[in-house]
Formats: sequence, C-alpha cells, structure tokens
Amino acid sequence: MCSMTTRESPRAVSSAPAPPAAGSDSAAVPLPAAGPDLRGRTAVVTGAAGGIGRACAERLHAAGADVRLVDRDAAGLRALEEAGTGTAAQVDLTDLDAAAEVARGADILVNNAGVQTVAPIEEFPPERFSLILRLMLEAPFRLAQAALPHMYAQGWGRIVNISSVHGLRASAYKSAYVAAKHGLEGLSKVAAVEGAARGVTSNCINPGYVRTPLVERQIADQARAHGIGEDEVVDSVLLARSPLKRLIEPSEVAAMAAYLCTPEASYINGASLVMDGAWSAT
Ligand SMILES: NC(=O)c1ccc[n+]([C@@H]2O[C@H](COP(=O)([O-])OP(=O)(O)OC[C@H]3O[C@@H](n4cnc5c(N)ncnc54)[C@H](O)[C@@H]3O)[C@@H](O)[C@H]2O)c1
Repeated sequence: MCSMTTRESPRAVSSAPAPPAAGSDSAAVPLPAAGPDLRGRTAVVTGAAGGIGRACAERLHAAGADVRLVDRDAAGLRALEEAGTGTAAQVDLTDLDAAAEVARGADILVNNAGVQTVAPIEEFPPERFSLILRLMLEAPFRLAQAALPHMYAQGWGRIVNISSVHGLRASAYKSAYVAAKHGLEGLSKVAAVEGAARGVTSNCINPGYVRTPLVERQIADQARAHGIGEDEVVDSVLLARSPLKRLIEPSEVAAMAAYLCTPEASYINGASLVMDGAWSAT
C-alpha cells in the first residue's frame, strides 16, 4: 500500500462540470475530470453485475481501484470483466462462508447485493424472509468481519452500505426488505463506532427509486397489475410521495459511494446519506 500522505491527496480537479439548467431533470452524471485517487486500493463490490453495483464498480475502477466484482450472475460478471472493469468472483452471497472469503484484503467494501419480494406479512413465505435477511444483513456482516482486520492493520478502510429509504421508512408488503435494511443501518453504525479511531468509516447511502433492473421489473409488473402506462406507474405509484418526479440514476448513487472514499469524507462516519428527492422530508 502507498503511504497515507500520497493516498490522502486527492487529484486536482482540472475543470468543474457545467451546472444543469434550472428545473432540468437531467440525471446523467458524467464521470468527473478528477475524483478520489484510488490507485493501489482494492474495492470489493457485491451485486456488481447489475444496477447500482455495476455503476459503483465502474466508478471505483475509473478512480483507479482494483475492483473485485462479486455476483452470482456469471454472464453479467463476464461482460464487466471483458470491459476491463475488474476481476470477477462468482459467488452466491447466501453462502456466508463464501461471502466472507471474497472480502479478505479489501480496502473498500461496497455492500450492495439485494433482492425484493412484495407480499403482505400474513402471506410472506418464511423461507424467503430468511433468505433476504441472510443476503442483505448477514452477508454484509460476514463481509465486513472478514475485511476489517486488513483495514485496521493499515489504518484505512471504507465500508459503504447501499441501504435505501426503506432503511429509514416502511412501506407495506416489504417486510423482509425493510427489516433487512433497518438491520443494515444498525450494523453500519456499529462498524462506524468501532472503526472510528482506526481509520475506517462505515456509512449507508439511502436512495429512493433508482433506475435499475430491479425497479424496471417492478414498473412493468405494476403497469400490468393496474392496467396503466409505465410512465404513470413511475409518477403516481413509485414516486407518489416524492416531490422530485424522476428516478435516480445508478451513476448518482455511485458518485456518492466514490465521494465517501475521498479524504474530504473521512469525518462522515455512521451516517445515512439520503438521496430521495425529498421523499423522506415530506
Ligand atoms: N433500485 C432501487 O430503486 C433501489 C433503491 C434503494 C436501494 N436499492 C438497493 O440497491 C442494491 C442494488 O439494487 P439494484 O436496484 O441495483 O438491483 P439489481 O437487481 O439491478 O442488482 C442486484 C444485483 O445483486 C445480485 N444478487 C442478487 N442476489 C445475489 C446473491 N444471492 N448472491 C450474489 N449476488 C446476488 C444480482 O445478480 C444483481 O446483479 C440493493 O441492495 C437494493 O436494495 C435499490
């Protein structure tokens, strides 16, 4: 590992991107001319084959990190590996021993892999509840447990937990998801407290609805179920409580994850960084 002096020096920003026009709902977030300098760092990103995980992997790779791409989706991993984004590790993270193994030596851990099941509590399949808790709470615990000794030994580490507004708020029919995300919030805070004096931060990012395959499937299902168009599902169903009527792009979440790896973010610890277009402000 390089010395902390060089490591903590961010690259100079050569030019700031032009601000978007007032009222613009443009969501594209171009890679900045400069960002955190993560050369020499190993970043483990779970759920890297799709959606937010893929955007995080690409963003951290662009910042110079060696990215370990963790997913169960072999084809998605292959595409990323062929694009040079990182090294693939095909792992089903519900296998907790395998999850732990893949995190050893990580400087940056992005706990992102997740799934959703929508059903009222009285009909929710108990085995599905257990699986969601295992994937979205126990696996992040085992990954962090395996990654921390190396982070502590070098006095630097970043744990970035992709939580959700549902880590702070509930919605009907999402008992396992909401329970897992609330648990992840607690795990993240404990990791922040334990790591604070040892150079390790742990934070949650809490997005509203992000334009990913997970949400696109929900939009299509809801459009069929309600007999309405997909645009109307987005405006009237998914974003009913959000003052900002657009989905977030995965690149916007990835930009926050990369920011948490900068020297400027080293005092941000144990936080829940809400990116929800003011949904939870209402
Ligand atoms: N999309 C949203 O609106 C949104 C909002 C808030 C939070 N999140 C959170 O962001 C994270 C990523 O969501 P996304 O929307 O990008 O989903 P996604 O379905 O697009 O991607 C999830 C990835 O996780 C992988 N995965 C699922 N189960 C796995 C397992 N057992 N082992 C290994 N990999 C597995 C999938 O193969 C996939 O590549 C999740 O934790 C989700 O809860 C998503």
